[in-house]
Amino acid sequence: MTTRENFGSKLGAILAAAGSAVGLGNVWRFPIETGQHGGAAFIIIYIICILLLGIPIMMSEFLIGRRTHSNTARAYDQLSGGTCWKWLGRLGVFTGTFILCYYCVVGGWTLQYTTMAATGAFDGVPANEFGSLFQTFVANPWMPTVWLIIFMLMTHIVVSRGIQHGIERFSKIIMPTLFILVVLLVVCSVCLPGAGAGIEFLLKPDFSKVTGKVILGAMGQAFYSLSLGMGCLCTYASYFNHHTNLGRTAVNVCVIDTIVAIMAGFIIFPSVFNIGMDANNLDAGAGLLFVSLPNVFQKSFEALPFLAILFSTAFYFLIFIAALTSAISLHEVTTAFIVEEMKLKRRWAALIVTAVCSAVGVVCSLSFGPLKDVLIFGMSIFDFFDYISGNIFLPVAGMLISIFAGWYLDRRILTEEFSNNGELRAKYIPLIVFLLRYIAPVAIGLVLLNQVGVFSFLA
Ligand code: PHE
Repeated sequence: MTTRENFGSKLGAILAAAGSAVGLGNVWRFPIETGQHGGAAFIIIYIICILLLGIPIMMSEFLIGRRTHSNTARAYDQLSGGTCWKWLGRLGVFTGTFILCYYCVVGGWTLQYTTMAATGAFDGVPANEFGSLFQTFVANPWMPTVWLIIFMLMTHIVVSRGIQHGIERFSKIIMPTLFILVVLLVVCSVCLPGAGAGIEFLLKPDFSKVTGKVILGAMGQAFYSLSLGMGCLCTYASYFNHHTNLGRTAVNVCVIDTIVAIMAGFIIFPSVFNIGMDANNLDAGAGLLFVSLPNVFQKSFEALPFLAILFSTAFYFLIFIAALTSAISLHEVTTAFIVEEMKLKRRWAALIVTAVCSAVGVVCSLSFGPLKDVLIFGMSIFDFFDYISGNIFLPVAGMLISIFAGWYLDRRILTEEFSNNGELRAKYIPLIVFLLRYIAPVAIGLVLLNQVGVFSFLA
């Protein structure tokens, strides 16, 4: 019997889970979605999604992990009583591994861009050249591969040190660093001339832009951004101790994630408006981070090249940290699984995950260059990994988790876990059960149908 570690403090547990949630999703999708889909109106809808869907499902994942103190696969094995529900845990491990394989590619890019920013490589690049700069970089078979391996090795070092000495200690240092960077960048950005227009674009409520599709998009975004629907939060919760208040922890993580997402908007839009770029035509995703923004930073601080270097380096470093902490949580899902199911030492288990994910990651990365003609269902290998995990596996798992916790699990288990065996009052339990039973499965079902294109007739 292996002795299992726990997080040493409440703060460590919250920061680790927040580290998983705060990731690329906060920076490269949320701000754009908000700006283009009704500003404050979108934010209100997003927050409603977090309240109705995010918190209950996050609490369910916490409950399943903490109840069993096991890796995700075994957690569901134990609670499923030999029924097919046991496959849900395995799906989590599989999805976690799958996401890590392409997440580390982008993680590598953030490292490359941090170094480029720090060495002043963007200085003097004409505005229309940033696109080809990025294309040339990702199509090169070597540099992205080297950076992705470095990124995976960093993830590896933290995970192989274990929970308290690795993940918890790292989160306690790096998450406050992330918050400080976010605040500094927001302050710099809102002080730029023309920032007011950017803030107005981001926040002005425009309910006419909120269509059925936008609401479904907000739900999907909430889901991805909170790292729901796969083993991450369940695995982290298996290291929570018996006094961790699951409800409060979930609320804290959701609040941190949402604040960082909104603040990312305050970093991006004032700078975009400062240089007079058309915010409605910005790309989401990689295009925004690696093509539009380097130019925005260059232009915003044209007169003060030193500040341009400082601002852009801090920004890419921030994204790198956000990606790294999410990657660590993904890595831990599979590492915990291998340690407990194959009885390997953590060091070796982590090495297997690092090696396999790096190898598959390299294939994903090469799909921007030498392997770009290899298509799966008409998508490049990278896009396939991104699409299938984010749009299919996560919502499917999330829907099943809400049904499992709401309908299948004994209500007694829910009550015991949410109230810490009677230590807390947890009066909200009937509400959470109602949301898990009726609201979450239907809502996520609609998101799923939307993502596979069933509602393409909607605006
Ligand atoms: N929540 C992370 C983000 O916002 C992505 C992620 C999804 C990480 C699922 C782990 C698991 O980028």
